[in-house]
Amino acid sequence: MKNVTVVAHPLINNSMTLLRDKRTQADEFRRHSDIVSKLLLIEATKGLQTETSKIETPIASFSGQLLTDRVVVVPILRAGISMLSAAYGLLPSISVGFIGLVRDEKTAIADKYYEKLPDIKSADTIFIVDPMLATGGSMDEALNIVKSAGAKRIVVVSIVCAPEGLERVNKKHSNVPIITAAVDEKLDSNAYIVPGLGDFGDRYFGTE
Ligand code: PRP
Ligand code: URA
Repeated sequence: MKNVTVVAHPLINNSMTLLRDKRTQADEFRRHSDIVSKLLLIEATKGLQTETSKIETPIASFSGQLLTDRVVVVPILRAGISMLSAAYGLLPSISVGFIGLVRDEKTAIADKYYEKLPDIKSADTIFIVDPMLATGGSMDEALNIVKSAGAKRIVVVSIVCAPEGLERVNKKHSNVPIITAAVDEKLDSNAYIVPGLGDFGDRYFGTE
């Protein structure tokens, strides 16, 4: 599908199987979601700009590269918080903005309950992180919010996507790349991803 990169890696395959397994408890679920998040973020940050920097090693002069882009990571509350420690681990100097969205259990329509974004400049790179992209309603709304705040360079990072949600996001935000570990089969009648992994937030935060 256009704009969608499915990252292939044996560590992702292993962790995704354990995340999907209904027997996996919150402690292991957190560990494996962190592994997958890191590997996805490594792929998502491939386009970041660097500039030449001359330094001295203990032995000799060296002309290296240092990151120049300002990066803003925006987790969609609540489940998006699960991907934040992976982002801090890779990019310690990120700014973080929050968008709180919750799906209505019957209609699956996302409702905004919180928004706190830093100042966003057009040159900034924004990563919107949310482990689940189902109908795409939450991501569509989050993209509208960050675009209204001035974002021009946006990358979506999501652990599991449904084809229905990807189509919606692609149609409305045709220039936004989406990095994921899996494009699953479909949505069920409750707009849950099949085979999916259930309710990510509940499994991660131990609120099942
Ligand atoms: C989940 C998930 C996404 C959204 C995806 O959040 O983390 O934000 O559903 O579904 P969509 O693509 O159909 O919008 P949920 O609303 O369950 O809230 P939570 O993160 O607080 O658990
Ligand atoms: N949110 C989840 O946590 N899981 C799904 O399958 C769909 C939305």
